[in-house]
Amino acid sequence: MSGRGEAPIRVGVIGCGQIAQLMHLPLLHELDEFAIAGLCDLSPTTLAYLGERYGVATRTTDYRELLADDGIDAVVVCTYDHAPVVAAAIAAGKHVLVEKPLAFTAAEARPLVAAAREADVVALVGYMKLYDPALERFVERLATLRGLRAIQVHDFAGRFDRYGDLYTEFRGDDVPADVLSAGRRDAAGRIADALGPDRAGYGELYLLLLMLGSHDLAVLRGTLGSPERVRFALGRGDDQLLALLDYPGGVPCVLEIGVGTSYEWWDEWLSVHGEDAELRLEFPNPYIRHAPTLLRVREADGASASERVTPVSNASLFRLEWLHFAGCIRGEATPRTPLAGGLADLELAEAIIAAMDPRPARLEPEPAPWRSSSPARPGCSAATC
Ligand SMILES: NC(=O)c1ccc[n+]([C@@H]2O[C@H](COP(=O)([O-])OP(=O)(O)OC[C@H]3O[C@@H](n4cnc5c(N)ncnc54)[C@H](O)[C@@H]3O)[C@@H](O)[C@H]2O)c1
Repeated sequence: MSGRGEAPIRVGVIGCGQIAQLMHLPLLHELDEFAIAGLCDLSPTTLAYLGERYGVATRTTDYRELLADDGIDAVVVCTYDHAPVVAAAIAAGKHVLVEKPLAFTAAEARPLVAAAREADVVALVGYMKLYDPALERFVERLATLRGLRAIQVHDFAGRFDRYGDLYTEFRGDDVPADVLSAGRRDAAGRIADALGPDRAGYGELYLLLLMLGSHDLAVLRGTLGSPERVRFALGRGDDQLLALLDYPGGVPCVLEIGVGTSYEWWDEWLSVHGEDAELRLEFPNPYIRHAPTLLRVREADGASASERVTPVSNASLFRLEWLHFAGCIRGEATPRTPLAGGLADLELAEAIIAAMDPRPARLEPEPAPWRSSSPARPGCSAATC
Protein backbone atom coordinates (compact mmCIF):
# COMPACT_ATOMS: atom_id res chain seq x y z
CA MET A 1 0.00 0.00 0.00
CA SER A 2 1.31 3.47 -0.76
CA GLY A 3 0.40 6.42 1.39
CA ARG A 4 1.04 8.88 -1.43
CA GLY A 5 -1.97 11.04 -2.20
CA GLU A 6 -3.63 10.34 1.14
CA ALA A 7 -3.17 12.44 4.24
CA PRO A 8 -0.70 10.72 6.55
CA ILE A 9 -1.99 9.23 9.78
CA ARG A 10 -0.75 11.51 12.58
CA VAL A 11 0.88 9.40 15.29
CA GLY A 12 1.80 10.25 18.87
CA VAL A 13 4.59 8.12 20.35
CA ILE A 14 4.06 7.46 24.06
CA GLY A 15 7.22 6.12 25.69
CA CYS A 16 10.30 7.11 23.68
CA GLY A 17 12.81 4.57 25.00
CA GLN A 18 14.67 1.80 23.30
CA ILE A 19 12.09 0.10 21.09
CA ALA A 20 10.58 3.44 20.05
CA GLN A 21 14.01 4.76 19.05
CA LEU A 22 15.33 1.60 17.41
CA MET A 23 12.23 0.65 15.47
CA HIS A 24 9.07 2.74 15.64
CA LEU A 25 10.38 6.29 15.20
CA PRO A 26 12.66 5.52 12.21
CA LEU A 27 9.84 3.59 10.52
CA LEU A 28 7.23 6.27 11.18
CA HIS A 29 9.69 8.78 9.75
CA GLU A 30 10.29 6.78 6.57
CA LEU A 31 6.74 5.59 5.82
CA ASP A 32 4.56 7.91 3.74
CA GLU A 33 1.49 6.55 5.50
CA PHE A 34 2.44 8.24 8.77
CA ALA A 35 3.60 11.51 10.28
CA ILE A 36 5.12 11.78 13.75
CA ALA A 37 2.76 14.33 15.32
CA GLY A 38 3.69 14.19 19.00
CA LEU A 39 6.13 12.72 21.49
CA CYS A 40 5.59 11.80 25.11
CA ASP A 41 8.14 10.55 27.61
CA LEU A 42 8.87 11.03 31.29
CA SER A 43 12.33 12.31 30.34
CA PRO A 44 12.41 15.96 29.14
CA THR A 45 15.94 15.58 27.71
CA THR A 46 14.82 12.57 25.66
CA LEU A 47 11.89 14.62 24.38
CA ALA A 48 14.19 17.51 23.46
CA TYR A 49 16.66 15.22 21.67
CA LEU A 50 14.05 13.28 19.69
CA GLY A 51 11.91 16.35 19.06
CA GLU A 52 14.90 18.03 17.37
CA ARG A 53 15.92 14.89 15.50
CA TYR A 54 12.48 14.23 14.04
CA GLY A 55 11.26 17.85 13.87
CA VAL A 56 8.34 17.30 16.25
CA ALA A 57 7.15 20.35 18.19
CA THR A 58 4.46 18.65 20.27
CA ARG A 59 6.29 17.20 23.25
CA THR A 60 4.90 16.36 26.65
CA THR A 61 5.64 14.32 29.76
CA ASP A 62 1.91 13.69 30.31
CA TYR A 63 0.29 11.27 27.86
CA ARG A 64 -3.15 12.67 28.64
CA GLU A 65 -2.11 15.91 26.93
CA LEU A 66 -1.22 14.01 23.80
CA LEU A 67 -4.51 12.13 23.90
CA ALA A 68 -6.46 15.41 24.17
CA ASP A 69 -4.74 16.77 21.06
CA ASP A 70 -6.97 16.89 17.96
CA GLY A 71 -3.85 16.79 15.82
CA ILE A 72 -3.20 13.16 16.80
CA ASP A 73 -5.08 10.32 15.07
CA ALA A 74 -3.26 7.33 16.57
CA VAL A 75 -0.75 6.44 19.27
CA VAL A 76 1.87 3.79 19.77
CA VAL A 77 2.28 2.77 23.41
CA CYS A 78 5.87 1.89 24.33
CA THR A 79 5.87 2.60 28.07
CA TYR A 80 6.44 0.04 30.81
CA ASP A 81 2.84 -0.04 32.08
CA HIS A 82 0.51 -0.18 29.09
CA ALA A 83 -3.04 -0.78 30.36
CA PRO A 84 -3.85 2.70 31.73
CA VAL A 85 -2.49 4.36 28.58
CA VAL A 86 -4.40 2.03 26.25
CA ALA A 87 -7.64 2.58 28.20
CA ALA A 88 -7.23 6.36 28.01
CA ALA A 89 -6.30 6.24 24.30
CA ILE A 90 -9.39 4.22 23.37
CA ALA A 91 -11.57 6.52 25.48
CA ALA A 92 -10.07 9.49 23.63
CA GLY A 93 -10.98 7.90 20.28
CA LYS A 94 -7.39 7.35 19.14
CA HIS A 95 -6.27 4.30 17.15
CA VAL A 96 -3.77 2.33 19.23
CA LEU A 97 -0.78 0.13 18.53
CA VAL A 98 0.35 -1.16 21.91
CA GLU A 99 3.66 -2.91 22.36
CA LYS A 100 3.43 -6.34 23.91
CA PRO A 101 2.35 -7.25 26.53
CA LEU A 102 -1.13 -5.74 26.26
CA ALA A 103 -1.30 -5.38 30.07
CA PHE A 104 0.25 -6.91 33.17
CA THR A 105 -2.73 -9.13 34.01
CA ALA A 106 -5.70 -10.68 32.25
CA ALA A 107 -8.05 -8.81 34.58
CA GLU A 108 -6.58 -5.51 33.35
CA ALA A 109 -6.74 -6.62 29.73
CA ARG A 110 -10.40 -7.73 29.63
CA PRO A 111 -11.93 -4.23 29.82
CA LEU A 112 -9.47 -3.06 27.15
CA VAL A 113 -10.68 -5.76 24.77
CA ALA A 114 -14.30 -4.80 25.46
CA ALA A 115 -13.62 -1.07 25.10
CA ALA A 116 -11.79 -1.54 21.81
CA ARG A 117 -14.64 -3.66 20.47
CA GLU A 118 -17.17 -0.95 21.31
CA ALA A 119 -15.12 2.03 20.17
CA ASP A 120 -14.70 3.01 16.56
CA VAL A 121 -10.92 2.67 16.67
CA VAL A 122 -8.31 0.21 15.46
CA ALA A 123 -6.45 -1.39 18.36
CA LEU A 124 -3.56 -3.78 17.73
CA VAL A 125 -0.95 -5.48 19.92
CA GLY A 126 2.56 -5.10 18.51
CA TYR A 127 3.22 -8.78 17.89
CA MET A 128 5.45 -8.10 14.91
CA LYS A 129 6.34 -11.80 14.52
CA LEU A 130 2.77 -12.51 13.47
CA TYR A 131 3.45 -10.41 10.37
CA ASP A 132 6.45 -12.51 9.38
CA PRO A 133 6.21 -13.90 5.81
CA ALA A 134 8.13 -16.96 7.10
CA LEU A 135 5.39 -17.60 9.64
CA GLU A 136 2.79 -17.34 6.86
CA ARG A 137 4.76 -19.90 4.80
CA PHE A 138 5.04 -22.15 7.88
CA VAL A 139 1.24 -22.02 8.39
CA GLU A 140 0.65 -22.92 4.73
CA ARG A 141 2.95 -25.95 4.98
CA LEU A 142 1.46 -26.90 8.35
CA ALA A 143 -1.97 -27.21 6.70
CA THR A 144 -0.65 -30.13 4.64
CA LEU A 145 1.39 -31.78 7.41
CA ARG A 146 0.17 -35.32 8.04
CA GLY A 147 -0.34 -36.53 11.62
CA LEU A 148 0.86 -33.84 14.01
CA ARG A 149 2.72 -35.61 16.83
CA ALA A 150 4.56 -32.99 18.86
CA ILE A 151 5.25 -29.26 19.21
CA GLN A 152 8.29 -27.60 20.74
CA VAL A 153 8.90 -23.95 21.50
CA HIS A 154 12.34 -22.97 22.72
CA ASP A 155 13.47 -19.43 23.49
CA PHE A 156 16.70 -18.83 25.36
CA ALA A 157 17.20 -15.52 23.50
CA GLY A 158 20.90 -14.60 23.32
CA ARG A 159 23.08 -11.61 24.06
CA PHE A 160 21.16 -8.35 24.12
CA ASP A 161 24.25 -6.16 24.15
CA ARG A 162 25.52 -6.89 20.66
CA TYR A 163 23.33 -4.50 18.68
CA GLY A 164 24.30 -1.30 20.54
CA ASP A 165 26.66 -0.23 17.75
CA LEU A 166 24.00 -0.73 15.08
CA TYR A 167 21.74 2.10 16.21
CA THR A 168 21.80 5.52 17.79
CA GLU A 169 19.93 5.56 21.07
CA PHE A 170 19.50 8.46 23.48
CA ARG A 171 18.76 7.66 27.10
CA GLY A 172 17.95 10.66 29.29
CA ASP A 173 18.97 10.34 32.92
CA ASP A 174 16.48 12.91 34.18
CA VAL A 175 13.60 10.65 35.17
CA PRO A 176 13.59 10.54 38.98
CA ALA A 177 14.56 7.04 40.10
CA ASP A 178 11.73 6.99 42.61
CA VAL A 179 9.17 7.55 39.82
CA LEU A 180 10.51 4.54 37.93
CA SER A 181 10.77 2.32 40.98
CA ALA A 182 7.28 3.32 42.17
CA GLY A 183 5.91 2.29 38.75
CA ARG A 184 7.67 -1.07 38.93
CA ARG A 185 6.51 -1.65 42.51
CA ASP A 186 2.94 -0.83 41.58
CA ALA A 187 3.03 -3.28 38.64
CA ALA A 188 4.66 -5.95 40.84
CA GLY A 189 1.81 -5.56 43.35
CA ARG A 190 -0.84 -5.99 40.66
CA ILE A 191 0.98 -9.04 39.34
CA ALA A 192 1.26 -10.56 42.83
CA ASP A 193 -2.51 -10.07 43.27
CA ALA A 194 -3.20 -11.80 39.97
CA LEU A 195 -0.94 -14.77 40.79
CA GLY A 196 -2.46 -15.17 44.25
CA PRO A 197 -0.71 -15.61 47.61
CA ASP A 198 0.52 -19.16 46.91
CA ARG A 199 2.37 -18.17 43.74
CA ALA A 200 3.18 -14.49 44.28
CA GLY A 201 6.87 -15.48 44.44
CA TYR A 202 6.81 -16.19 40.72
CA GLY A 203 6.47 -12.51 39.77
CA GLU A 204 9.80 -12.38 37.94
CA LEU A 205 9.12 -15.57 35.99
CA TYR A 206 5.68 -14.27 35.09
CA LEU A 207 7.31 -11.08 33.79
CA LEU A 208 9.67 -13.23 31.74
CA LEU A 209 6.60 -14.83 30.14
CA LEU A 210 5.13 -11.39 29.45
CA MET A 211 8.27 -9.78 28.07
CA LEU A 212 10.40 -12.27 26.09
CA GLY A 213 7.83 -15.07 26.30
CA SER A 214 4.84 -13.19 24.95
CA HIS A 215 6.37 -13.48 21.47
CA ASP A 216 6.52 -17.26 21.89
CA LEU A 217 2.96 -17.49 23.18
CA ALA A 218 1.73 -15.31 20.32
CA VAL A 219 3.62 -17.29 17.68
CA LEU A 220 2.26 -20.54 19.11
CA ARG A 221 -1.29 -19.17 19.10
CA GLY A 222 -0.84 -17.66 15.62
CA THR A 223 0.33 -20.94 14.10
CA LEU A 224 -1.27 -23.76 16.10
CA GLY A 225 -4.04 -22.05 18.07
CA SER A 226 -4.43 -22.06 21.84
CA PRO A 227 -3.69 -25.14 23.95
CA GLU A 228 -6.48 -26.96 25.76
CA ARG A 229 -4.69 -26.79 29.09
CA VAL A 230 -1.40 -26.49 30.92
CA ARG A 231 -0.50 -29.97 32.17
CA PHE A 232 2.73 -29.11 34.00
CA ALA A 233 5.02 -26.16 34.63
CA LEU A 234 8.31 -25.69 36.42
CA GLY A 235 10.38 -22.63 37.25
CA ARG A 236 14.16 -22.74 37.50
CA GLY A 237 15.23 -19.76 39.57
CA ASP A 238 13.83 -16.48 38.31
CA ASP A 239 15.00 -16.64 34.73
CA GLN A 240 14.00 -19.97 33.23
CA LEU A 241 10.82 -22.00 32.94
CA LEU A 242 9.45 -25.12 31.35
CA ALA A 243 5.81 -25.92 30.60
CA LEU A 244 3.97 -28.83 29.05
CA LEU A 245 0.82 -27.82 27.18
CA ASP A 246 -1.90 -30.12 25.82
CA TYR A 247 -3.06 -29.55 22.26
CA PRO A 248 -6.15 -31.18 20.73
CA GLY A 249 -5.75 -34.87 19.91
CA GLY A 250 -3.34 -35.38 22.80
CA VAL A 251 -0.52 -33.55 21.02
CA PRO A 252 2.04 -32.39 23.60
CA CYS A 253 3.77 -29.02 23.38
CA VAL A 254 6.97 -28.37 25.31
CA LEU A 255 7.61 -24.69 26.00
CA GLU A 256 11.00 -23.61 27.31
CA ILE A 257 11.88 -19.97 27.95
CA GLY A 258 14.90 -18.44 29.60
CA VAL A 259 17.21 -15.44 29.66
CA GLY A 260 20.64 -14.93 31.10
CA THR A 261 22.71 -17.02 28.71
CA SER A 262 25.69 -15.43 26.98
CA TYR A 263 24.92 -17.11 23.65
CA GLU A 264 26.43 -15.33 20.68
CA TRP A 265 23.54 -16.65 18.59
CA TRP A 266 19.81 -16.09 18.86
CA ASP A 267 18.24 -19.25 20.26
CA GLU A 268 14.52 -19.05 19.53
CA TRP A 269 12.62 -21.61 17.47
CA LEU A 270 9.30 -23.39 17.00
CA SER A 271 9.25 -26.96 15.76
CA VAL A 272 6.39 -29.24 14.80
CA HIS A 273 6.78 -32.93 14.13
CA GLY A 274 4.36 -34.76 11.85
CA GLU A 275 4.24 -38.36 10.63
CA ASP A 276 6.63 -37.76 7.77
CA ALA A 277 7.99 -34.23 8.10
CA GLU A 278 9.39 -31.74 10.58
CA LEU A 279 8.79 -28.01 10.16
CA ARG A 280 10.79 -25.48 12.06
CA LEU A 281 10.86 -21.69 12.29
CA GLU A 282 14.16 -20.25 13.50
CA PHE A 283 13.84 -16.66 14.56
CA PRO A 284 16.63 -14.08 14.34
CA ASN A 285 17.50 -11.47 16.93
CA PRO A 286 14.50 -9.14 16.71
CA TYR A 287 16.70 -6.07 17.13
CA ILE A 288 18.45 -6.75 13.85
CA ARG A 289 16.06 -5.09 11.46
CA HIS A 290 16.32 -7.10 8.29
CA ALA A 291 17.52 -10.48 9.50
CA PRO A 292 15.30 -13.19 8.00
CA THR A 293 13.48 -15.91 9.90
CA LEU A 294 14.53 -19.33 8.57
CA LEU A 295 11.96 -21.94 7.61
CA ARG A 296 13.50 -25.39 7.86
CA VAL A 297 11.60 -28.33 6.36
CA ARG A 298 12.80 -31.90 6.74
CA GLU A 299 10.90 -34.50 4.73
CA ALA A 300 11.20 -37.54 2.51
CA ASP A 301 12.92 -37.30 -0.84
CA GLY A 302 12.02 -40.61 -2.44
CA ALA A 303 13.66 -43.23 -0.27
CA SER A 304 16.06 -40.60 1.06
CA ALA A 305 15.60 -37.43 3.12
CA SER A 306 15.85 -33.77 2.27
CA GLU A 307 16.34 -30.68 4.39
CA ARG A 308 15.49 -27.32 2.91
CA VAL A 309 16.28 -24.07 4.69
CA THR A 310 14.55 -20.96 3.35
CA PRO A 311 15.37 -17.43 4.57
CA VAL A 312 11.91 -16.37 3.56
CA SER A 313 12.07 -12.58 3.68
CA ASN A 314 14.30 -9.66 4.59
CA ALA A 315 11.32 -7.45 5.33
CA SER A 316 11.37 -5.54 8.60
CA LEU A 317 8.56 -7.08 10.64
CA PHE A 318 7.95 -3.80 12.45
CA ARG A 319 7.49 -2.13 9.05
CA LEU A 320 4.94 -4.78 8.02
CA GLU A 321 3.15 -4.24 11.33
CA TRP A 322 2.92 -0.47 10.70
CA LEU A 323 1.68 -0.96 7.15
CA HIS A 324 -1.00 -3.33 8.45
CA PHE A 325 -1.99 -0.76 11.07
CA ALA A 326 -2.41 1.86 8.30
CA GLY A 327 -4.43 -0.61 6.22
CA CYS A 328 -6.76 -1.30 9.17
CA ILE A 329 -7.26 2.42 9.84
CA ARG A 330 -8.06 3.00 6.17
CA GLY A 331 -10.53 0.11 6.12
CA GLU A 332 -8.39 -1.96 3.74
CA ALA A 333 -7.44 -4.72 6.21
CA THR A 334 -8.92 -6.58 9.17
CA PRO A 335 -6.86 -6.47 12.39
CA ARG A 336 -4.52 -9.44 12.53
CA THR A 337 -3.27 -8.87 16.06
CA PRO A 338 -6.33 -7.50 17.90
CA LEU A 339 -6.30 -6.97 21.65
CA ALA A 340 -8.15 -10.28 22.19
CA GLY A 341 -4.95 -12.14 21.28
CA GLY A 342 -3.02 -10.17 23.88
CA LEU A 343 -5.61 -11.19 26.46
CA ALA A 344 -5.39 -14.87 25.43
CA ASP A 345 -1.61 -14.77 25.96
CA LEU A 346 -1.99 -13.21 29.41
CA GLU A 347 -4.50 -15.91 30.37
CA LEU A 348 -2.08 -18.60 29.24
CA ALA A 349 0.82 -16.96 31.10
CA GLU A 350 -1.27 -16.92 34.28
CA ALA A 351 -2.29 -20.56 33.74
CA ILE A 352 1.37 -21.56 33.34
CA ILE A 353 2.25 -19.97 36.68
CA ALA A 354 -0.84 -21.52 38.28
CA ALA A 355 0.47 -24.97 37.22
CA MET A 356 3.74 -24.49 39.15
CA ASP A 357 4.32 -25.65 42.70
CA PRO A 358 3.35 -23.01 45.27
CA ARG A 359 5.99 -20.32 45.86
CA PRO A 360 4.71 -17.59 48.18
CA ALA A 361 6.25 -14.13 47.98
CA ARG A 362 9.56 -13.70 49.72
CA LEU A 363 9.50 -11.31 52.63
CA GLU A 364 12.17 -9.09 51.16
CA PRO A 365 12.16 -9.70 47.43
CA GLU A 366 15.51 -9.32 45.71
CA PRO A 367 15.41 -8.14 42.10
CA ALA A 368 16.30 -11.02 39.81
CA PRO A 369 19.91 -10.60 38.63
CA TRP A 370 18.79 -10.32 34.99
CA ARG A 371 16.58 -7.34 35.87
CA SER A 372 19.33 -5.42 37.63
CA SER A 373 19.91 -1.97 36.14
CA SER A 374 23.60 -1.93 36.99
CA PRO A 375 25.96 -3.40 34.69
CA ALA A 376 23.69 -5.52 32.57
CA ARG A 377 24.37 -9.19 32.22
CA PRO A 378 25.06 -10.00 28.62
CA GLY A 379 21.91 -12.08 28.38
CA CYS A 380 19.40 -9.31 28.86
CA SER A 381 19.64 -5.58 29.37
CA ALA A 382 16.30 -4.28 30.55
CA ALA A 383 14.39 -7.53 30.06
CA THR A 384 11.75 -5.71 28.09
CA CYS A 385 12.58 -7.69 24.97
N1 LIG B 1 8.19 -5.96 20.03
C1 LIG B 1 9.37 -6.17 20.56
O1 LIG B 1 10.16 -7.01 20.12
C2 LIG B 1 9.79 -5.35 21.75
C3 LIG B 1 11.15 -5.18 22.02
C4 LIG B 1 11.49 -4.40 23.12
C5 LIG B 1 10.52 -3.86 23.94
N2 LIG B 1 9.20 -4.09 23.65
C6 LIG B 1 8.15 -3.55 24.53
O2 LIG B 1 8.17 -2.13 24.46
C7 LIG B 1 7.95 -1.56 25.74
C8 LIG B 1 9.07 -0.57 26.03
O3 LIG B 1 10.31 -1.25 26.05
P1 LIG B 1 11.71 -0.48 25.90
O4 LIG B 1 12.74 -1.51 25.77
O5 LIG B 1 11.61 0.57 24.87
O6 LIG B 1 11.80 0.18 27.36
P2 LIG B 1 12.56 1.51 27.77
O7 LIG B 1 12.64 1.49 29.26
O8 LIG B 1 13.81 1.68 26.99
O9 LIG B 1 11.55 2.67 27.32
C9 LIG B 1 10.36 2.96 27.97
C10 LIG B 1 10.17 4.48 27.89
O10 LIG B 1 8.88 4.80 28.35
C11 LIG B 1 8.96 5.98 29.13
N3 LIG B 1 7.82 5.97 30.03
C12 LIG B 1 7.57 5.12 31.05
N4 LIG B 1 6.39 5.42 31.64
C13 LIG B 1 5.88 6.48 30.95
C14 LIG B 1 4.69 7.24 31.06
N5 LIG B 1 3.78 6.98 31.99
N6 LIG B 1 4.50 8.25 30.19
C15 LIG B 1 5.42 8.52 29.24
N7 LIG B 1 6.57 7.84 29.08
C16 LIG B 1 6.79 6.82 29.92
C17 LIG B 1 10.30 5.89 29.83
O11 LIG B 1 10.77 7.16 30.23
C18 LIG B 1 11.17 5.24 28.75
O12 LIG B 1 11.81 6.21 27.94
C19 LIG B 1 7.89 -2.72 26.74
O13 LIG B 1 6.57 -2.92 27.11
C20 LIG B 1 8.39 -3.91 25.97
O14 LIG B 1 7.71 -5.10 26.31
C21 LIG B 1 8.83 -4.80 22.57
